[in-house]
Amino acid sequence: MARKKIALIGAGQIGGTLAHLAGLKELGDIVLFDIVDGVPQGKALDLAESSPVEGFDAGLTGASSYEAIAGADVVIVTAGVPRKPGMSRDDLLSINLKVMEAVGAGIKQYAPDAFVICITNPLDAMVWALQKFSGLPTNKVVGMAGVLDSARFRWFLAEATGVSVKDVHAMTLGGHGDDMVPLVRYSTVGGVPLPALIEMGWLTQEKLDAIVKRTRGGGGEIVALLKTGSAYYAPATSAIAMAESYLKDQKRILPVAAYLSGQYGQNGLYVGVPALIGAGGVEKIVEVKFDATEQEMFVKSVASVTGLIDACKQIQPALA
Ligand code: APR
Repeated sequence: MARKKIALIGAGQIGGTLAHLAGLKELGDIVLFDIVDGVPQGKALDLAESSPVEGFDAGLTGASSYEAIAGADVVIVTAGVPRKPGMSRDDLLSINLKVMEAVGAGIKQYAPDAFVICITNPLDAMVWALQKFSGLPTNKVVGMAGVLDSARFRWFLAEATGVSVKDVHAMTLGGHGDDMVPLVRYSTVGGVPLPALIEMGWLTQEKLDAIVKRTRGGGGEIVALLKTGSAYYAPATSAIAMAESYLKDQKRILPVAAYLSGQYGQNGLYVGVPALIGAGGVEKIVEVKFDATEQEMFVKSVASVTGLIDACKQIQPALA
């Protein structure tokens, strides 16, 4: 069986980590693409030179032309610029929108059958724009945020309870912003939902509230520590889990930014929901039941996403 092909658009911090993980897991041959000439080529060569030591077989190439992504099975997009001090949300939106336009055109031309995972921020708006610009089916274009936000939630819970991360499951839905929706009732430690865990005295309500708050600010916490960039190990791992579920038809249910067409009462936007990822891309969206508080949080989060999408439409009327 021929190897799968994984194209990484953006060879920065996350792009390089994605390439490393995809190589170590032997997911396929890897192409790193970036507009900065030399960087994707240099990272690809460095990683290729690590493969004899780790013992993985993967083609690793760097490219500055979209032709190199031809026929990719998976495309993971991290291209863009981060928000810098003094830059408004709209400044960032308009810069990264232009990047999505170029990336979308490249995917449309060279990898129209790929499963596309967008990581570029502001995530929910960028994945929406990327789907529009690429014209790929909505079930083949997703955004990575929920796996990462849930992983942060899981880690904080594991740390607080002293339980292995393997036995801690959590679900964070909604947009990838400060008003994301960590779902306490659907999160478990050793199979026990968090509210029951509080009744058992394993966790206090105060501690849980603090963990939820920390989860919401998880990205900012890393930025504050790193000072010159944002998180990359956990974001890359999260996207690789999504890619692997698609490539191996694992049918995992993962929280991803998926296109909603009626589910959760929403239409025509991308927002974080649990989705079954298999060989067909997003094969099913799981509609969990919300209680009144969860519903209120979800609607608020969707409103933020809609605000971002409206801003995109103002900047780029072709998207309206
Ligand atoms: N086409 C291809 N690559 C581009 C383009 C473009 N039009 N514009 C920028 N890039 C490249 C940059 O040259 C850089 O190498 O995208 C890369 C981004 O890498 P980093 O700046 O290191 O950012 P990273 O930490 O990888 O995060 C990427 O993911 O989490 C989000 O907010 C984060 O939007 C950011 C993205």
